[in-house]
Amino acid sequence: MSVIEMTDKLKAGQSGKQSEVEISVDGAIVAASEGELLVESILRHKEIPHICYHSPLMGPIQTCDTCLVEVDGKLVRSCGTKVGAHMKVVTESKRAKDARSEAFDVILGNHMLYCTVCDNNNENCRVHNTALELNVQHQEHPFKPKPYEVDMSNPFYRYDPSQCILCGQCVQACQTVQVNETLSIGWELDQPRVLWDGGHEIGGSSCVSCGHCITVCPCNALMEKSMLGEAGFLSGMPKESLNKMIDVVKAIEPEMGYGAIMQVSQTEAKMREERIKKTKTVCTYCGVGCSYDVWTKDRKILKIVPEHGDANQISTCVKGKFGWDYVNHKDRLQKPLIREGSGFREASWEEALSLVGTKLGTIKQQYGPDSIGVIVSSKTTNEDGYLMQKFARSIIGTNNVDNCSRYCQSPATMGLFRTVGYGGDSGSIEDIGKSALVLIVGSNTAESHPVLATRVKRAHKLFGQRLIVADPREHEMARRADIYFRPRPGTDLVWISALSRYMLDNGYAKQAFLEQWVNGLDEYRKSLEPFTMEYASKTCEVSIEILERVAKEIAAADTMCVLWAMGITQHTDGSDGSTAISNLLLITGNYMRPGCGAYPLRGHNNVQGASDIGAMPNNYPGYQDLTEPEIRERFEKAWGVSLPPEFGLDNHEMVDAIYEGKLRGLYLAGEDMISADSNASRVAAAFEKLDLFVVQDIFFTETCRYADVVLPAAPALEKDGTFTNTERRIQRLYQALPELGESLADWKITQEIAKRMGALWDYQHPSEIMAEMASLTPLYAGVSYERLEGYKTLQWPVEPDGADQPVLYLDKFAFPDGKARLYPVSFREPDEALDSDFDLFLNNGRILEHFHEGNMTHRVEGIREETPERYLEISEELAKERGIESGRWVRVTSRHGSLVIKVLVTSRVFGNQVYLPLLSQEGPVNILTGSHADPDTNTPAYKETAVRIKVLPEQGTNPLKPLNFRFSGNPTPQTGVEVERKWKRKDYHMPGTEDLVQIQSQK
Ligand code: SF4
Ligand code: SF4
Ligand code: SF4
Ligand code: FES
Repeated sequence: MSVIEMTDKLKAGQSGKQSEVEISVDGAIVAASEGELLVESILRHKEIPHICYHSPLMGPIQTCDTCLVEVDGKLVRSCGTKVGAHMKVVTESKRAKDARSEAFDVILGNHMLYCTVCDNNNENCRVHNTALELNVQHQEHPFKPKPYEVDMSNPFYRYDPSQCILCGQCVQACQTVQVNETLSIGWELDQPRVLWDGGHEIGGSSCVSCGHCITVCPCNALMEKSMLGEAGFLSGMPKESLNKMIDVVKAIEPEMGYGAIMQVSQTEAKMREERIKKTKTVCTYCGVGCSYDVWTKDRKILKIVPEHGDANQISTCVKGKFGWDYVNHKDRLQKPLIREGSGFREASWEEALSLVGTKLGTIKQQYGPDSIGVIVSSKTTNEDGYLMQKFARSIIGTNNVDNCSRYCQSPATMGLFRTVGYGGDSGSIEDIGKSALVLIVGSNTAESHPVLATRVKRAHKLFGQRLIVADPREHEMARRADIYFRPRPGTDLVWISALSRYMLDNGYAKQAFLEQWVNGLDEYRKSLEPFTMEYASKTCEVSIEILERVAKEIAAADTMCVLWAMGITQHTDGSDGSTAISNLLLITGNYMRPGCGAYPLRGHNNVQGASDIGAMPNNYPGYQDLTEPEIRERFEKAWGVSLPPEFGLDNHEMVDAIYEGKLRGLYLAGEDMISADSNASRVAAAFEKLDLFVVQDIFFTETCRYADVVLPAAPALEKDGTFTNTERRIQRLYQALPELGESLADWKITQEIAKRMGALWDYQHPSEIMAEMASLTPLYAGVSYERLEGYKTLQWPVEPDGADQPVLYLDKFAFPDGKARLYPVSFREPDEALDSDFDLFLNNGRILEHFHEGNMTHRVEGIREETPERYLEISEELAKERGIESGRWVRVTSRHGSLVIKVLVTSRVFGNQVYLPLLSQEGPVNILTGSHADPDTNTPAYKETAVRIKVLPEQGTNPLKPLNFRFSGNPTPQTGVEVERKWKRKDYHMPGTEDLVQIQSQK
C-alpha cells in the first residue's frame, strides 16, 4: 500500500464517515463499517493474530504478515485491507493458517523466546501471546542475533536490536502520533534495525523521551530501564546466570517443544500479578491531563502504561512517562516542621495542628477573619481544593482565597466570561485535531503541552491541517507552521483586532451567524476603527502582506481553533488580548460547532479544577457569584454557617495586604509562591512580616523557608481524587502508594486543622467531598465517583443525569439570552519599555523536560542528566554584538533584581530578545520580573520585563549537555514505517505465496 493510501486510511479512521455493511467471516455474518480496516471487523467477531497492528490511531503498518486471511479467495493482510460490502473472509482455511504460522516463524528468527526470565512477560507481551495462540512448538527460521550492541545511552529506556522483530510500531508512533520523527527502520541494511536520527545512538539524538515507542513495542526490544531486572521473579539474576539459563532452555527446546516451556513462563507471568500493582492515575504535571496505569512493586515505580485515556490514548511526554523519581525522593517531607529561631525542628502532627489551629484562631479573634488568607494548590485534587476554600469561607469566615490561575489563566478566563460565558476550553483536544486550521498565539505548545501538540503536529503532517503560529520565539510549532510571524511582544491584541476588522470590511465575517447568535456588533465595529492593517503592521512590526495572508487563511478555513497561553495572558492587557481572540472567533463564526473554538491552554494539571471548585475570591464552586444572596444562602444552609458577602483578596492583593498590615496569617498549599509570583524579593519580604505562615507541600521549597509551620503533604500517586484538565475533563486518580512516612493527603490535613478550629467535619473519603460539591454546584451537578470510575471521564457542565458537554455552546452561549457578546477592547503599550539602560526584552516560559521551577523534575535523575542547569537563550546577533558564545557567564539585571547565569546562543530567539526558561530554583526568573499586572485580573505581566546583560569574564561549558535532544538532534521525517522498502528486499516474500518456505500451521 502506498503512503497516500495509508494516509487515506488514517483519515477515514478519523473522519468516521463510513456506512454500515455486512461481511461474511468464516461463514458468519458480521456487521462492519465500509472502509474500515478488515482486521477491526474481524477482531470484533473473533481473535486473530495481528502483531504489528495496534489501533486505528496508528493505522496499518503491514510489516508482520501475521494477520493474513483469505478474502474472496485471495490471501491478504487484514490490517491493510479496507472492508467492502459482501466481502467473503476466510480466516480458518489451511492456506491462511499456514501463512500466518510462517509469518510468525519469520518473526522468531528475529526474537529469542526466553519469556520466563524476561521482564516483559507480564501477560501483555504480544509476541508471547501470539506464540501461545498459534500453539508454536518449534521454529524453522533459527533465531539470529543482529550484529548491533544494546543501546543503553538514553537515561530512561534501552533498545535491544537482537530482540527487535522489526514490526515498525515504534517508528509509526514516533512519526505519526508523537511526530518527533526520530525513528526509522534501515530496511536496506544487511540486517535491518530501528535507527535514531538515521543511525545515531539514542542519547543525543532528537529523541525527546516521550515513550510512545516503548509503549507500543509488542515485545522487550524497547523497555523502560525501570523495568529491567525488576518485573520477573528470575529476571533480576546476574547476567551470566541468566545467559546460562537461556542456553539450557534453548538446548531442551528442540526435544520438548515450546509448549511445556511456555507453560512455565505463563505460570511465572501469573505469579507476577500478585506483586505488581497496576493503578489508574492522572498525570500530575501539565493541564493536558494524560491518564495511564502506573505499575508499582512495593514503592518502586516500574512503568507508566498509557492506553485508555480520553485525552491522550497512548501518548505521554517525558514527564508523565518517566518523571516519577520525585515521589520516593529522599527530600520528601515526612514530618511536620515548626520554626525554631532561624531553623526548623520536627514535630508531631498533634503539636503542629494544634499550633496552627490555635494561632489562626487567635489572629481571627484579634484582627478579624479577613486578616487571614488561604491559597489553594492547582496541583492538588478538586477535593483537596474544595475543602480548603470551604475552610477559608466557613471556618475562618473570609473570601480571601485564591489559586495560582491568578499567575497565568485568569485573563483567558476573563476573556471567555466576557464573550461566550464559560471560562473553559470550548471543545476537546480531539476537536483541535479535527480543525481545518489551528492558530497558535503565545504558546510554546510542543514543550508546555506536549501531548496536545502531538495532535496538531499529526493533523498537520497527515491530514492537511493548516497551522499558523505567532510568537516571539521560533519554537518547534513555529518551525512546523505554514505561516510563522513574530509580532512585537505585547502587541498581539492589535493584529488580532485588525484581523477582525479586515474580516468585517472585506465580507469575510460570518454575517448570518453574527445576526443570529451575537450581541454588540455595532459597538464592537466602532471600536475597531483604529485597527487598520497599516496600524497593526506598524505597531506589531509585521508586514501587511503577512497579516493579509493570515486573514485569508482564516477566512478560507471551514473551522479554526485558536490555542493560546501565557504569551498572551502574562501581559498588562492579558484579559483584553484574550477577549480579542474570542471576538475574532465570533466574527469568523468559529464557535457552536465541533472542530473550532477557543483553547486557552491550562498550565498545571488541575489549574482548571482549582478555579472550578471555588478557590477564587469572588466565586463559590462552579463560578457562582458569592454576592448573590440566593446562592450564598444555599451554601450557608449546606455548611451550617453564615458566610461573608463581599469579595475577598486575590493572591496579588494578599501580598499588598501583608505590607499594609491587614493580612496577618496565610495558609498555603502546594505552591512555591516565591518562585511563581512576580517580583520574588518583594513577595519574600512580605512573608517575613506574617504572624503565621503555614505551608503545606511535598518538598521543602523556597517558600517553606519563610514558613512558621511546614506540613508534609502527599503527591497524587498517594491519594484518591479527581483532576480537571484543560478540556474541562474530570478524571479520577486512584491511590497507587501509601502516604510516605507521616505525610498526609491534603484534604486530611485541612480537615484536621478545621476540626481544631471547631468544625464537625468527618469526611472519610474524597468521594464524599465530591458528592457535597456536586450537590451545591450546577456545573458539576451530575458528577459522581461512580460515573468517573476507571477511565470514564466527564466534561463539565454535567447535568444531574450525567450528560456532559464535550463541545460547549452547541445550542446556545452561556448567557441568559443564549447569545454571545462582542466585547470592545483597546490597545495600550506594554508597561516596561526598553531604553538605553534596559535594552533587552526578557521572555520566559517552560521547557519540555522541566515543569516550572523544577521542584519535582529536578528530583528526576534522568531529567537532571539531560538538563541539569539553567541558561539564558540569546540570539546569534546579540552574541555576535557582545562577542560571546554559549557557556559565557553574564549578569542579567532588570529594574527589580539581578541574577548571574550562563548564556546559550540559539536561533530560536531574535535580535534584542532573550529567553529565560523557568527551570531554576536558585535563580528564579521572578527575581527579575516586576509587580505590574493586568488590571482586570491582577495577573502579573511576567512577559513585560526589560533587562540588560553585563558580560562577565568567566567562560563556562555549554549549558546544554550532549545528551539533550536540542544539542545535535537531527530528525528524519517520513510518513510512517515505509514498509514498501521492506517488501522490495530480495529476501522478502509474502508468506503463503511461495512453496519454498511454506511450513505447517500447528493448530
Ligand atoms: S521521540 Fe524518542 S521516545 Fe518518543 S517515540 Fe520517538 S524515539 Fe520514542
Ligand atoms: S523496537 Fe520497534 S520495531 Fe522493534 S519490536 Fe519494538 S516496536 Fe517493533
Ligand atoms: S506533562 Fe502534560 S503532556 Fe506530559 S504526560 Fe503529563 S499531562 Fe501529558
Ligand atoms: S498485523 Fe497485519 S501485517 Fe502485521
